[in-house]
Amino acid sequence: MDVFTSAAEFLRRRRPERPVLALRPHAAFRAARWFIANFPGRVLYAAKANDAPEIIEALTDAGIRAFDVASLVEIERLAPVEDAELFFMNPVKSRGAIARAYSDFGVRSFAFDSDDELDKIVQETGEARDLDLYLRVACPNTHSLIPLEGKFGASPQAAPALLLRARQIARRLGITFHVGSQAVVPAAFGEALRQIGQLIVTSGVMVDAVDIGGGFPSRYPHSDPPELSSYMEEVVRAADELAVKHSCELLCEPGRALVAEAESVIVRVDARRDRALYVNDGAFGTLFDAAYLGFRFPAKLIPSTRRKPKELAEFTLYGPTCDSDDQMPGPFVLPDCAREGDYIEIGQIGAYGRVMATRFNGFGEYDEVMLTDEPMLSMYAEQGASEKEQDEMLKSALA
Ligand SMILES: Cc1ncc(COP(=O)(O)O)c(C=O)c1O
Repeated sequence: MDVFTSAAEFLRRRRPERPVLALRPHAAFRAARWFIANFPGRVLYAAKANDAPEIIEALTDAGIRAFDVASLVEIERLAPVEDAELFFMNPVKSRGAIARAYSDFGVRSFAFDSDDELDKIVQETGEARDLDLYLRVACPNTHSLIPLEGKFGASPQAAPALLLRARQIARRLGITFHVGSQAVVPAAFGEALRQIGQLIVTSGVMVDAVDIGGGFPSRYPHSDPPELSSYMEEVVRAADELAVKHSCELLCEPGRALVAEAESVIVRVDARRDRALYVNDGAFGTLFDAAYLGFRFPAKLIPSTRRKPKELAEFTLYGPTCDSDDQMPGPFVLPDCAREGDYIEIGQIGAYGRVMATRFNGFGEYDEVMLTDEPMLSMYAEQGASEKEQDEMLKSALA
């Protein structure tokens, strides 16, 4: 893959027809190093967030060896990673996937949240005695921008009996939860961990592991969460109150926080209509979250011709398909003079960007490049570009 120092340098040499996935694996490496150094337990990567081989390689180079996988395809993709340990944490799996995961890929860690799922795991692994079972429990998702509650998780009423039953089957027994993605308040983790503590005491069942899931935030124009260190302080405090703290391993499975910064998409403006820009990627591509979840992403104009610096303006983006839902309200802040033929770097799409892209209307094909500069926003860089600095960068790009 070709390497450039920035999107602007890339566009000085190329005028790509297709949208471009611009990878910054160094950002994923830095994030993984930070998590490994600061999380008081084992860090798994939630492989659903980004499946680019270069990103996986950066994470493994940084020391990640364990992965939360949701499907057989993710298992097949990650099993070849040296010393990989795979955790099949989707609480509802097909029988065939459980059987193949266990017998063909050596997966031993499985999540469940019901008696039926536990039955499936027991039957499809031939009543194996070497299973590491994780009970997914429901927990409040009130502090997250993307609540994931409702679909999965044993209720506080059902959880004690499930724990008791699984204890008799499992080699190792764990509890897991998910506070929702982009949790913007560290207390989300403390509250969930206290709930787990209560469950352990009331059920009287010893557990060997607590997996606090994902949910750690990244930085976006609409969401500027507290420092990640305050999340770790909250986790350490709450984990210290667990009755099983001395015998229990702590795990986490971040997706977003490890990879959001590690990818931008570079799009071309194919039309301008007032404050709307029609670009060549959208809701059915890498910008699903901007279309359906109200996400705003940082945007940088890379003009196709020299123009005098102008004021900034707020734009809506439309994607390339014929569907009128292919709209990203943003607003995306860009110089007022943006016009057809210009390119835009849209940052922070490393989590749930490329993996969401479909082939709808014949789109969904991307070029790929690697960039060596800093991500547009960062939870980890010493001086992640502030909005003011970004404005200045935009203006100087036009000069
Ligand atoms: C079981 C599980 N673990 C981890 C994650 C990663 O979450 P996030 O990207 O918010 O860190 C998800 C996301 O859906 C998940 O379902």
